[in-house]
Amino acid sequence: MALYSEKVMDHFRNPRNVGVIEDANGIGEVGNAKCGDIMKMYLKIKDGVVEDVKFETFGCGSAIASSSMATELIKGQPVEEVKKLTNKAVAEALDGLPAYKMHCSVLAEEAIQSALKDYQERTGEKILN
Ligand code: FES
Repeated sequence: MALYSEKVMDHFRNPRNVGVIEDANGIGEVGNAKCGDIMKMYLKIKDGVVEDVKFETFGCGSAIASSSMATELIKGQPVEEVKKLTNKAVAEALDGLPAYKMHCSVLAEEAIQSALKDYQERTGEKILN
């Protein structure tokens, strides 16, 4: 069996939503101290919905695929749903990741949480529990 699913390879080769949102109102940056990978997530939230999302990831293929899939899962979704997104859901949407690569999907969950927290701090709007 191939180590990585077709979906992981596809999102690694053709990542969706790469880049920067200049007028983002929620920005999160997280890193993994062990591997040194860094993920930055930009959210544009309006009327309780993630209207746009982009990412920049300096990291391994699984981290790039996880960021890409995570942006697809949250784009156009209500914040109430977005805040519940787990790394497990990201990995499942990619048809799985090898066990030792699960931490790469954790970065995606953390980057989104960090961007939501940033949004909350900037706007004073309570969206996280
Ligand atoms: Fe560090 Fe993948 S090896 S995020």
